[in-house]
Amino acid sequence: MDNQNSHTPKSIHGTWSSRWTFILAATGSAVGLGNIWKFPYIAGENGGGAFVLVYLLCIVIVGIPIMMAEVFLGRNARRNPVNAVEVFTRQSGASHNWRYIGVMGVIAGLLIMSFYSVVAGWALHYVFASISGTFTDISAAGSDAFFGGLLGDPKALLGWHSTFTLMTFIIVASGVSKGLGAVAKYMMPFLFLALAVLLVYGFLAGNFKAGVMFLFTPNFSALTGDSILIAMGHAFFTLSLGMGAIMAYGAYMPSSANIGKTILTVGILDTLVALVAGLAIFPIVFANPTIEVGAGPGLLFVSLPIAFGSMPLGLLIGTLFFALVAVAAWSSAVSLIEPAIAWLIENKGWKRIKAAGIVAGCCWLLGLLTVASFGPLAEFKPAWLLYFTPFDFFDFLTSQIMLPLGGVLIALLVAWKAPAALLQKEFGFKSQKTQTLLLFLLRFVSPTLVLLIMAIKLFETLSQLGA
Ligand code: PHE
Repeated sequence: MDNQNSHTPKSIHGTWSSRWTFILAATGSAVGLGNIWKFPYIAGENGGGAFVLVYLLCIVIVGIPIMMAEVFLGRNARRNPVNAVEVFTRQSGASHNWRYIGVMGVIAGLLIMSFYSVVAGWALHYVFASISGTFTDISAAGSDAFFGGLLGDPKALLGWHSTFTLMTFIIVASGVSKGLGAVAKYMMPFLFLALAVLLVYGFLAGNFKAGVMFLFTPNFSALTGDSILIAMGHAFFTLSLGMGAIMAYGAYMPSSANIGKTILTVGILDTLVALVAGLAIFPIVFANPTIEVGAGPGLLFVSLPIAFGSMPLGLLIGTLFFALVAVAAWSSAVSLIEPAIAWLIENKGWKRIKAAGIVAGCCWLLGLLTVASFGPLAEFKPAWLLYFTPFDFFDFLTSQIMLPLGGVLIALLVAWKAPAALLQKEFGFKSQKTQTLLLFLLRFVSPTLVLLIMAIKLFETLSQLGA
């Protein structure tokens, strides 16, 4: 914990020890299942190149500016997201009702956590499968069957979901610098290393060229309103935006750190991890004709064991890899529930351990619906869930609706309401042009783009219903 400038309010939860701890922690939040599990499979389902391009554009022109706005609000107030927005409305004279952005964010975090921990549980299961040699010389069909077996085993899903929820509880209960900071510092570098090893494997043993072509050759005819919305929503999901996670972490950021540079680093790291994960997975997918590019949520879990099963030291590398995926998910999960916990501590005066216990418990309960989505509720797709299973519905509702809306509201609030002196104090831009560009993106570009994309999808859905 470091010393704060006396004129800046302190966070009661502590502060990251340095700018790098913030970068690692924010990257720890951003880099998670979104990059390694979700990005490859949605890119696969949505035709690759053009989808990836939309995703990258959204990161640059919508995501990174909104991330800066979130850190701005968090560090300015040094409070949990609900209170941070409230403090800002008082400073800027904006309506008190903006605080509901914070409330929506807290809820979105809990909803995401409920299915996130089930998928993270798959990774935990794979650590043990890998270490016990299950993947040695496994065929594509065998790998597919192994994943299917896991999904068809509610007891296993429940056990791993519970284990992961408990792991997350332990870290958040230990507090900011001890719990969150430590995880980020030691684990993130290993994840980068493991992905590099996989990349080399994909290059040497997979169909690397086909993988690269798939990811980077845009075929615009594959784009639909649906896939554009998925790409945009994923930009929010992968950067942990629109629900206050980054705002909560911003509250613990040292005052001396430059927001612009720091966030740019986080955004670049997050994007690199997603692209490298794609470049590691698709060469394997294309080298094994039985694996479909559009295999869906199982893509990572079906394709990579084949690589580990046939590479030298595969047992070791595979085990390490799935452990790292679990750790990446772990450091993201912590940030999914931290806003709710910080709110309970600050506003209800609860002890951290109690707040963490109750929040984790609620997410665990809600997670049962996701567990059931792979078993008894697999065919439960009622109209009021928009014909999704509960798992797909939570994913849709959070990444494609709540996060983008939350993000746009944050953008509008900061860009239209922030007093000039406050902008100068937090961002400290050396050139007026940079600030003008940021405000322009936040005021006009992100809201227009997000609402337009949502409108296109709505229109597409309505016309499908009419047809
Ligand atoms: N960014 C995380 C990932 O990519 C998920 C996340 C979303 C975490 C929102 C916090 C808030 O896996």
